[in-house]
Amino acid sequence: MEHLKKFDSEVYDAVMKELDRQRNVIELVASENIVSKAVLEATGSWLTNKYSEGFPNKRYYGGNQFIDITEQLAIDRAKKLFNAEHANVQSHSGSSANLAAYLAILQPGDTILGMDLAHGGHLTHGSPVNFSGRLFKFVSYGVEKESERVSMDVVRELALHHKPKLILAGFSAYPRHLDFKEFRHIADEVGAYFMVDMAHVAGLIAAKLYPDPVPYADIVTTTTHKTLRGPRGAMILSKTLDRFHPDDKKNLAQKIDFAVFPGSQGGPLDHVIAAKAVAFKEALEPSFVGYQRQVLKNAQILANVLSENGFRLVSGGTDNHLMLVDVTPKGITGKVAEHALDEAGICCNKNMIPFDSRAPFDPSGIRLGSPAVTTRGMKEQEMEQIAQWISLVLKNPSDKHVLEGVRKEVLDLCRRFPLPY
Ligand SMILES: Cc1ncc(COP(=O)(O)O)c(C=O)c1O
Repeated sequence: MEHLKKFDSEVYDAVMKELDRQRNVIELVASENIVSKAVLEATGSWLTNKYSEGFPNKRYYGGNQFIDITEQLAIDRAKKLFNAEHANVQSHSGSSANLAAYLAILQPGDTILGMDLAHGGHLTHGSPVNFSGRLFKFVSYGVEKESERVSMDVVRELALHHKPKLILAGFSAYPRHLDFKEFRHIADEVGAYFMVDMAHVAGLIAAKLYPDPVPYADIVTTTTHKTLRGPRGAMILSKTLDRFHPDDKKNLAQKIDFAVFPGSQGGPLDHVIAAKAVAFKEALEPSFVGYQRQVLKNAQILANVLSENGFRLVSGGTDNHLMLVDVTPKGITGKVAEHALDEAGICCNKNMIPFDSRAPFDPSGIRLGSPAVTTRGMKEQEMEQIAQWISLVLKNPSDKHVLEGVRKEVLDLCRRFPLPY
């Protein structure tokens, strides 16, 4: 960082302060993780200088012989990791991957059945303020009031009634398994494509610790950060054959590629694609399964100890890396909880809970996740301790003495489990 330091001290200072923050907080934001030095080096590499519109061996620019190598490695490793027929690794983000996936198979105005944002879905699954809700007609399924879980009977009823062209499964804040096989049956019953946005659970799926959507879905999109622990970015996996247009000149894989480039993006981010290749190599190592097992164990401990301390967890617990905690029974809101935890050095995000009577800027819950702390090496004992601190803070959110006391202990824990850099 010596050149940055010399040339632009303002940016350098902010970057170093962010590193310091990451070193000294317990990161429980469920969508975040801590990448390896190898991933970081590839992301910050000279590949950022290159333009390479097109795909390996079919580029619109010269000088791509080495870019072809890194992109092909990313494609081959992604296909191996998820046993996929086709992989497009160029999507800049999860949102752009979803846009390209929709554009590949739908026309504006077509109906999509997806998960309600207020019940755990993502903005790109039909929010009216997002391109998805503006371009397509979304119908939403949520969770059931009693169980706070997705009911496949409800999904089927909605599908039969609305006859969507696409059924979409996937979430940003749902702590349970999804039944992808049953989604496929329903899609077949109504003649719809089936797509899964596995952004949150991709790492668990790669480790075979969460139900695998790849055998059932026509298209699977995912971010490469989050549980997969790669650089910021995304990819699209798909079947080769377009089940509804098998005789088209372009098969589904070609339609996906075309929808990414030139359909919705220009030149790929070659440095990020190289980093994706590195992250996929890491995810193919046996140690990655051990990491994901610990992610699940750590989430379980956190959920159990919070429940023992009287917190209400949406759906009663978790099957994956994340959980939603309803903090209102303790007389506080999600915003107050997020702020108090922040003061104590524990980072998370306020979150709507299903059937929330409060507004998104000050909802009833917080979302907690275990991927980042697990990367730091924290295990059951540390998770139990973190859960006790969370309980103490949320029971005393405006007691400066308590917050400062926890902050000191958090700092000590962070020092014992350093970042890799
Ligand atoms: C399920 C899901 N899909 C898509 C995205 C969007 O990813 P990005 O922020 O990279 O656009 C997210 C991010 O939170 C997500 O949780």
